[in-house]
Amino acid sequence: MLVSGSGSNLQALIDAARDDPEFGAEIVVVISDRSEAGALARARSAGIAAQVVDYTGDRTEFTRRICETTAGYQAEALVLAGFMRILSAEAIAMYPNRIVNIHPSLLPAFPGARAVQQALDAGVEVSGVTVHFVDEQVDHGPVIAQRSVMVHVDDDEVSLHARIQAEEHELYPRVVKALAAGRLQVQDGEVIWS
Ligand code: GRF
Repeated sequence: MLVSGSGSNLQALIDAARDDPEFGAEIVVVISDRSEAGALARARSAGIAAQVVDYTGDRTEFTRRICETTAGYQAEALVLAGFMRILSAEAIAMYPNRIVNIHPSLLPAFPGARAVQQALDAGVEVSGVTVHFVDEQVDHGPVIAQRSVMVHVDDDEVSLHARIQAEEHELYPRVVKALAAGRLQVQDGEVIWS
């Protein structure tokens, strides 16, 4: 898993792997570009290898070091959750349709780092969460699953993000389980669930 933040989605996946005997996926390593990421502590307390790969300003080189690390753990897919760096094309070539990301909006609306605030600023009544395969563009690629979340009139970024995250924590384990079971195929840019 690739993370930069608190790791609540990582925790949801750790819990699913522990509680669902049919989960079918193992988190073999958690990698962060930020040594202070709370996600690393969550990984370590779950007995999962946790590694920092520093971003030194060269995306290709950074991606190569990430891929060397994941290859060392025989990772079969990359699961991004709150990972604030963009991987270069080498990673996508190494893991074709095996890199997934979760984003707190109904893509293609509001890509980027401030998706929740952007949805509030735009005055939408419904926002939500998207899980998608990663391609070479930011917050872009075949959509695997989406869930909508109503925006309340008194919402701020914190309150809306909290309700979106509650959906994320249910949705992401379902998607990772389906990915591990080989139930997600991409045909003509569309994801087919089987
Ligand atoms: C999530 O809301 C995710 O959609 C976004 O970053 C946040 C990460 O949260 N990409 P966490 O680190 O999993 O708690």
